[in-house]
Amino acid sequence: MKLVLGIAGASGSIYPARFLKKLLELEGETYLIVSPASIRIFREEYETNVNTPQEILDFIINKWQIESIRNQIHFRTFADIGADIASGSNKWDAMVVLPCSMKTIASINAGLTENLIERCADVTLKERRRLIVVPRETPYNRIHLRNMLSLDEAGAIILPASPGFYQVPRTLDDLGDFIAGRIFNLLGVDAELFPKWDG
Ligand SMILES: Cc1cc2nc3c(=O)[nH]c(=O)nc-3n(C[C@H](O)[C@H](O)[C@H](O)COP(=O)(O)O)c2cc1C
Repeated sequence: MKLVLGIAGASGSIYPARFLKKLLELEGETYLIVSPASIRIFREEYETNVNTPQEILDFIINKWQIESIRNQIHFRTFADIGADIASGSNKWDAMVVLPCSMKTIASINAGLTENLIERCADVTLKERRRLIVVPRETPYNRIHLRNMLSLDEAGAIILPASPGFYQVPRTLDDLGDFIAGRIFNLLGVDAELFPKWDG
């Protein structure tokens, strides 16, 4: 699978971290776009001093001792609205924005395309490809709710960062894996990150 993964500046660095951990182990190609705000939040939440997307990836690889990396990760610069993936002629299968801030949801909804995450999301929708947006905020105001409804109407899938507890998670990583697993499900990949509910 050829995937565009945008990491925007909402709380919940554990979600892209656990998603990337699994993704690295799977065959495929990923274009990774990381917003400056998300790097700041990653630093806070993992109490580390990463400063670049490459350092975030290295942190994940070291933290979970990932040995066999099968996914090709291509870094693309947040501000580079002229990157190869900024055009619909570059064919990827799907895009995930994980997590997605209310600011980026508002921008995608308004069609602003001021950075590469927003531009790729816009392209994904116009090319009728799968766009999965994982919002994180609480509580929601009516602007947030309207923007999410409008994005759903435009064809995006809103997958809130609200893990289930019926699988009896033991660790924070289990909670991260629940959301990562639901995203993989929607991408048609059985990542086996949590046991299926069997009644
Ligand atoms: C520590 C921290 C946590 C934040 N958490 C959230 C959040 O959960 N949801 C949200 O919508 N914005 C959150 N923000 C605000 C966004 O980072 C801010 O709106 C930023 O402009 C988003 O830009 P981006 O979407 O381009 O990354 C947070 C900011 C900081 C510094």
